[in-house]
Amino acid sequence: MATYRYEIAGSVLSGRVEIGGAKNAVLPILAATLLNKGTSYIYNVPDLSDIDVAIEILKAFNCNVSHENHSVVVDASDAMYTNIPQELTSKCRATLAFLGASLGRFGEADIAFPGGCVLGPRPVNMHIEALHALGLEVNEDNTIHVQGKLLDSVLQLSYPSVGVTENILIMAAASHHTIIIKNAAREPEIVNLCKYLTETGANIDGAGTSTIVIKGRDMIECQAHITVIPDRIEAATYITAGVMTGRDVEVAKCNPRDIRRLLTILRKMGCEINVSEDTVHVIKGLLDKQLNTPLYIVAKPYPAFPTDMQPLIMPLLCLIASEYSPSILADTVFPYRYMLAEELSKMGAKIHKRTGAAVITGLERIGTCRFTASRNLISHDLRGGAALILASLATEPGTVSNVYDEGYIKRGYENISEKFSQIGGNVSVKLLK
Ligand code: EPU
Repeated sequence: MATYRYEIAGSVLSGRVEIGGAKNAVLPILAATLLNKGTSYIYNVPDLSDIDVAIEILKAFNCNVSHENHSVVVDASDAMYTNIPQELTSKCRATLAFLGASLGRFGEADIAFPGGCVLGPRPVNMHIEALHALGLEVNEDNTIHVQGKLLDSVLQLSYPSVGVTENILIMAAASHHTIIIKNAAREPEIVNLCKYLTETGANIDGAGTSTIVIKGRDMIECQAHITVIPDRIEAATYITAGVMTGRDVEVAKCNPRDIRRLLTILRKMGCEINVSEDTVHVIKGLLDKQLNTPLYIVAKPYPAFPTDMQPLIMPLLCLIASEYSPSILADTVFPYRYMLAEELSKMGAKIHKRTGAAVITGLERIGTCRFTASRNLISHDLRGGAALILASLATEPGTVSNVYDEGYIKRGYENISEKFSQIGGNVSVKLLK
């Protein structure tokens, strides 16, 4: 496994940065291209290692795939059935979407158990339950093997799982029958997937709400075009960095509507933020204003505050909370997603972890809103790794921190060092082995 060392100097950010396409939207769309016997054109695709994994899987299905200039073209006309091996599924949880895609295209799927970031237990029980509820034949051994045909069904999910909703939508798009998904996930990435499936002939009502009705069609051969939505988590990363250690930071080519919960919280803290159609402009943050500590932030499924932003806001809370004005950061989606707390404590943060929540009481060093630089920070997952970069940028100018990362950050952030450099952030990255 490759290890990268990020070297980050305390910085003051200002200027304009552009956001790329959403990783978590592209991955299920790439899987769904397997259903189109023609060619799919996907635009605004970020250059990320998780995308490379999905492309490898499409190639294993004998699809012809090119990825250039942020566009991916998939020709699945000669696709052939294959088992998806562990060496690919272990790299990325989203590979599970190929279960629905293979089932939709070939009436059968065989996929090794998926990997992904270490955020605590990540079982697949809800996927399996949904497959059973749809009357499919499921065998679990070293792999998940599924076969059968969908019939008209109403599927009541016990939890609005993003991955389960995507998987069912993809398999249903290739069936003649009507599937109603109740308690469906409502994330913007689901809406983007539905747009692609509609483009290839599926009839979908209710995308973005908790009841989605999908009626599929025969396997079709068409030229399908889809533009990937802006990555709301990447946008949140640069906005939060701007609040922590910037003035006049413009985060462009994003969709402010998809991040309104974050913006509401930041404004309540006292940040000065302007929003236009596709830009969020952080005018004044912590460097220019005394910010208020939010007492309680809880991550829940969309449209609530997202779990993927939970680690990103943690360092900001450390800079403004105190013993007298603490902040509680709870996560109902991934209650064990707090490995970052130990790393931030190396930088002087005071965080008390509980299951499902962290109580943040500020910094050891009173009277500062800057972390202490550390040469020994370990990134344990994608968003936690990005959060350590934010914390390192918010150290005293002239001090340097190192973040050691086993490729997590490149799974979800294209050119993070270049993008921070564009706005005055001193971040360089070196491949160690
Ligand atoms: N869960 C189960 N059983 C299942 C499926 C999920 O217990 O069969 C649990 C999970 O363990 C978790 C919760 O349900 O506690 C939510 O899981 P969900 O299925 O909604 O998440 P996912 O599809 O695995 C996607 C994103 C994650 C993001 C979550 C929640 C992709 C590729 N991944 O994961 O993104 O955190 O939704 O919004 O879309 C990231 O980008 O850093 C990332 C982790």
